[in-house]
Amino acid sequence: MPRRFAVLPVGGLSLAFLMPLCARAEPSAAFASPGLTARADALLARMTLEEKAGQLNQLSAATLITGPGHEAGNNDELIKGGLVGAILNSATAHETNAYQKEAVGQSRLRIPILFGLDVIHGFRTLFPIPLGISASWDTGLVERTARFAAVEASQQGVRWTFGPMVDIARDPRWGRIAEGAGEDPWLGSAIARAYVLGYQGSGLDDSSSIVACAKHFVGYGAAEGGREYNTTEVSERTLRQVYLPPFRAAVDAGVGSVMSAFNSINGVPASANALTLTQVLRREWKFEGFVDSDWAAVREIMVHGIANDERTAARKGILAGVDMDMEGRLYGKELPGLVRSGDVPMERLNEAVRRVLRIKLSLGLFEHPYVQEPAVPADPGEGRVLARRAAEESLVLLENRPLKGAPLLPLSASSGKRIALIGPLADSAADMLGSWSCEGRPRDVVTLRSALADRAAAEGMTLSYAKGTDIEGGSETGFAGAVEAARQSQVAILALGESGHSSGEASSRSRLDLPGNQEELLEAVVKTGTPVVLIVFSGRPLATPWAARHAQALLLAWFPGIEAGPALVRTLFGDSEPGGRLTVSVPRSVGQVPIYYNALNSGRPRADPVAAGAPKPGDHYVNGYLDEESTPLYPFGHGLAYTDFSYSAVHPDATQMSARSINEGKARLSVGADVRNTGPRDGTEIVQLYIRLRGTSVARPVRELKGFRRVRLAAGEARRVDFSLGRDELAFWNIDMKNVVEPCSLYIWIAPDSARGTPARVDITP
Ligand code: BGC
Repeated sequence: MPRRFAVLPVGGLSLAFLMPLCARAEPSAAFASPGLTARADALLARMTLEEKAGQLNQLSAATLITGPGHEAGNNDELIKGGLVGAILNSATAHETNAYQKEAVGQSRLRIPILFGLDVIHGFRTLFPIPLGISASWDTGLVERTARFAAVEASQQGVRWTFGPMVDIARDPRWGRIAEGAGEDPWLGSAIARAYVLGYQGSGLDDSSSIVACAKHFVGYGAAEGGREYNTTEVSERTLRQVYLPPFRAAVDAGVGSVMSAFNSINGVPASANALTLTQVLRREWKFEGFVDSDWAAVREIMVHGIANDERTAARKGILAGVDMDMEGRLYGKELPGLVRSGDVPMERLNEAVRRVLRIKLSLGLFEHPYVQEPAVPADPGEGRVLARRAAEESLVLLENRPLKGAPLLPLSASSGKRIALIGPLADSAADMLGSWSCEGRPRDVVTLRSALADRAAAEGMTLSYAKGTDIEGGSETGFAGAVEAARQSQVAILALGESGHSSGEASSRSRLDLPGNQEELLEAVVKTGTPVVLIVFSGRPLATPWAARHAQALLLAWFPGIEAGPALVRTLFGDSEPGGRLTVSVPRSVGQVPIYYNALNSGRPRADPVAAGAPKPGDHYVNGYLDEESTPLYPFGHGLAYTDFSYSAVHPDATQMSARSINEGKARLSVGADVRNTGPRDGTEIVQLYIRLRGTSVARPVRELKGFRRVRLAAGEARRVDFSLGRDELAFWNIDMKNVVEPCSLYIWIAPDSARGTPARVDITP
C-alpha cells in the first residue's frame, strides 16, 4: 500500500488549510481490506492468549490523567511483555517514541503501540470548542480544522484521537454539550462526517492522518437531568432517529473507531450493550473498525450493577462488542482465563484483536513506529489564520438593537471613540481555550483586551478596562471602577460568561445563569445608560433573559480558541461578520429544559398553524407552563448578520409524489426559494430547509432540518437556493420500526431559522 508523507514542517503549516479540501479520496473502510486482514491474521496466529488480550489493553500515561482510579506503575514492564496495545495521554514525540521503543524494541512480537489523545478542537493550535464551531454550519471549515489538528498531533506520534464527540445534546445543563454539534441529528451527522474526513485525511496510510473515534456510543447526551454520567431512557425509535444518525454518518465516512459510553441505555450499560454495539453497529452498519471503551467503562459495568466481579464485567464487555478496554485493566487480566474456560469464544477475542491490528497496520505503524522529534514551536504560526476564521464563523449575534436609527454593531472608530471594556473574561487567556485544551497554551491566546488595545492604539480610540468582578465572584468592590469606565465611554463592551472549565466532562450545572455576580455587574453598567455590547463566553447556551432585553447587542462567543481577541475585534468593527447560527435552542430559564426545536407536537400545542383541531390562541388547556413561555429565548438556527435577508415563497417542483418511488430511490423532489440580501452590505446567510410530515403512522416532529447551505450574497443580490429531498430526507422509523417514506402531507420551509417562514405543501401519495 502506498504511503503518502505530508511534508509539513512544524509551525509552517500551509495556508492550503484555508482552501476547500476537494482532492480527497472518497471515504472507505480501507482498513478492512483483505490484504490487511490477512496480515493481521498471520500475526494473530503467532500470538499467545496473553498477547492477544494485551492488544486490547489500553493504559494511560501518567503525564495526563483524564479519569478516576488511575494506577500508576507498571506500564513499562507490561509494554515490554507485549501486554499493552494502546496508550492514551502521551502527547509528545519524545514520550511516544520512548514507549514505542519498549514495544517495538523489546516485546516478543514487536507490535507497535497505538497512541491516542483527546484532540477535540485542536492539538496545539486551538480552535473554537466544537459547539462553537458547529454554529458555523460550515462542514468544510470543520474538516480543515480537524485536518490541521491531525497534522500537529501526528507529528508527535499521536495517531488516534478520541473525537469527534457526536452525541446529540438537548440539555444544556449537561456540560459535555460543549463538545458536540448541538441538538440536531441532521446537522450533527454532516459535522460528524466532516470531522472524520478531516482527521483521517486521504487515508490512514498518510502519516499525517489520525484515526478518528466517534463517541460516546450511545445516548450519553440524553443523561437524565443533564447530570453527568447519568442514566438514559431512550425509546428505540428516538435512539434510531435522534442519537444514532451522527454515529452512522461517522461510520459511513469510514471512521476507524467508536467509543462505548459510560451511561446505561434503558437499563443496560452502553459498554455492555449488545443491541447497540453488535446488532446496530456491526450487523446493521457493517462497522469494521474497533470499539474502545470509555475510561474504565468496562470496569464500571460492576458499579452499574450487572456484574459482581471483574471477570463477569470483562466477559460482558467483550461479548457485547467492546474490543478495547481503556484504563479498566480488566481485559489483560481476565480475557485469557475467560477464553480458556470457554466463557468467551476464541473467535470473539480474535475478532477484537484483528480489528485493532488492522488499524495499526493501515497506519503504517509497523514500518514507521517512530516520529522525528520536532522542536516545540514557539507559536502556532499559520494556524492562527484558520483559528481566526473559525472563531469568526462561530460567533452568533443574538441581538443588535438600533441606536440613533442604526444597529449598534458593527462599531466604527467614530461611534466608539471612547470604549470601556469590562468583565472577567475580557483578558482571561486560559478560559478562551475551553475544555479539552490538549496541548494548547494560554500564552498562545490573544485576548479580547489585548486585541482591542491594539485596535484602539491604531485608530486613536481610548480604551479603559475594568475587570469588575471574577467569573464566580461575589464581591462588588470592582463595580465602581466598571461603572466609572462605562460612564466615561460611548460604548461599553462586557465580556461575561462561564469559566472555560464549567463545561466539558464532569461539569454539569443545575443553573444556566451567568455565574457569580456578573449579572449584577451588567445591571450596574446598563444603569449608566451607556450602550452595552454583551459578549457571552460559555460552553453551553445560558439562560439570560434580562441581559437579552437590556444589552444593546448580544454576541455569543463560546470559547473561541487562540484567536479569540482578533476574531472578536474584527467582528465588532465589521471587518468580518458574525458568521454563526445557533445549533442549540437557548432557553429562557432552566425550568424549560429540555427544550429543542424538533419536538413532537403533543395534542395541545400552544399554537399550530398547520394542525387541524389545535387549540386557539389564548386557550388555557395547552402544553406549557403557567409562569414561563413555551418558546425558547432564541430558537435553533437563529443568528443575525450585519445585513438583512428576505426569502421568497418556497417552490417545490411538484405538488404530489409517490412514497413508493421515493422509497425505491426513483424520485426526488426539488425545492427552492429566492434569498435576497436586502441590507446595506455583503453578507453570508445560512439558508435552512425544514420539513414536517403529517398523517404518518407515528407522530413526527413539528420541524426537522433536512438541508442547509451557507450562501454569500452581495448587497442587493438575490439567488435561488435549491435543495433536493429523497429517501434519506423523508424516511423515518415508522410504527413497524421500518425506516421508510410513508404516504403523508409534507410541509417544507426554507427559512432563516427553525421558527420562521411559511411552508409549502406537497402530498406524498402511496
Ligand atoms: C471521557 C472521554 C475521553 C476519555 C479519555 C473519558 O473520561 O469521557 O470522552 O476520550 O476520558 O480521556
